[in-house]
Amino acid sequence: MNRRKFLSNTALTTAGIGMTGILKAQNLISSPAPSDTVNIGLIGCRNMGYGDLQQHLANQGVKCTALCDIDENVLNEKAADVKKRYDQSPVLYKDFRKLLEQKDIDAVIIGTPDHWHCLMTVYALQAGKDVYVEKPMANTIAECNIIVKAADYYKERIVQVGQQQRSGFVFQKAIELIKSGKIGKLRRVNIWANFEYGVGQGIVPDEPVPAGVDFDMWLGPAPQRSFNKTRFHGSWRMFWDYGGGLMSDWGVHLLDIALWAKDITVPPEKVLVYGANTYEEPRSRETFDSMNVIYPKSDFVINWDMTAGIQGGPYDSSYGLAFIGDLATLIVDRNKLIMRPEWDDQAKKGKSDEYKFTEGKESHGEHAKNFLECLRTRNKPVCTPVIGRAAALHVHIPNMAARTGESMLIWDDTSGRFTNSEKANQLITPTYRKPWNLPSY
Ligand SMILES: NC(=O)c1ccc[n+]([C@@H]2O[C@H](COP(=O)([O-])OP(=O)(O)OC[C@H]3O[C@@H](n4cnc5c(N)ncnc54)[C@H](O)[C@@H]3O)[C@@H](O)[C@H]2O)c1
Repeated sequence: MNRRKFLSNTALTTAGIGMTGILKAQNLISSPAPSDTVNIGLIGCRNMGYGDLQQHLANQGVKCTALCDIDENVLNEKAADVKKRYDQSPVLYKDFRKLLEQKDIDAVIIGTPDHWHCLMTVYALQAGKDVYVEKPMANTIAECNIIVKAADYYKERIVQVGQQQRSGFVFQKAIELIKSGKIGKLRRVNIWANFEYGVGQGIVPDEPVPAGVDFDMWLGPAPQRSFNKTRFHGSWRMFWDYGGGLMSDWGVHLLDIALWAKDITVPPEKVLVYGANTYEEPRSRETFDSMNVIYPKSDFVINWDMTAGIQGGPYDSSYGLAFIGDLATLIVDRNKLIMRPEWDDQAKKGKSDEYKFTEGKESHGEHAKNFLECLRTRNKPVCTPVIGRAAALHVHIPNMAARTGESMLIWDDTSGRFTNSEKANQLITPTYRKPWNLPSY
């Protein structure tokens, strides 16, 4: 009750933590010389890939020179849109290897399902392109390791992982507040993600591959399967061969922010996991709809709480993080940042400052700007493969525990193995379907 009287709608800018950093980033690329044109090729055009492309094209001096998709319908629709909105006519491809041969492409955006990220990133680096690869960086531990090693091998290349919250004003400010001691000692991070789509779609029979779709090229290194639309565009997320369900879809974004608060760039050493399907109606999916994960860290704990099939959640948000310190709790999602101080009963005041900021915006644009800026400066982007791997392993390892029925997994990052589960070790490296081979670095 007492705490409430401290609630105000103070914007962060008036709380002395302004936007200078972000404005600087915007200015840096506002007026590039014409010779600075950046030519972008997009691989995987349907949803996020095309969104990423648009965020890049919103900047001066950026051109779309190629589009690639295995679905001709998607490819033609997006090509028409690029022509209409930007008056540009990219070369169109169904095979990404051909796109990578196009000499004038500086950078590629990889917006395919997760099972393709590793191969495409490695091939793009080999072809001398800079890479913006969507999250999660890859679909297995081994593939994440390969990307880190390949990026290190081609260290002159820029690789940005699409965890765009790293470029978001609200999250940057949350991290600033935590690191400057405003919430006191960080003791716990509670993270939640409740989304209806996470239960997958209703079950439908397999059907012939739609006209214009190269389904073999969609499957790529994944096992041969018949076509079913609930395992295809968008809903592939709920099948282990292509994605990791809600745990990985939202987990990489939110766990990334928890790790950032302590600059953790390594995988979890230990996870305690509950994973189950508690949604009543049968759905077309393999991934879990209910997961709880405890990540014990050296001096605090991260707690993941996920329920698919619903949309409500704590603090009026279906997803978010609550950073709990001994002076205050800081609640953050993409739109809002709220700091609620603990009450000091003796001093009759809050133990810390109070903030409420509710005007956060999408951060894809800033993340694309950061990538473009790095293409020009050759500096490291805000989300490197090492950061992408740390976040991805924080979601893959709990998924592996739930899949193998282990309630705890212990990971040894030096040997690259679990010390307590041979069953989980079997899932570290995917078996690629011929003619595709897992790259080695
Ligand atoms: N950063 C974010 O907030 C965010 C949000 C949504 C999705 N994503 C990520 O973006 C990626 C794509 O997700 P989506 O929702 O756009 O999926 P989607 O299924 O809607 O689109 C994927 C596209 O890739 C194409 N594709 C598949 N295999 C291909 C290949 N071999 N060559 C060329 N094109 C191929 C498909 O035909 C489809 O058009 C995923 O990794 C996802 O996790 C990130």
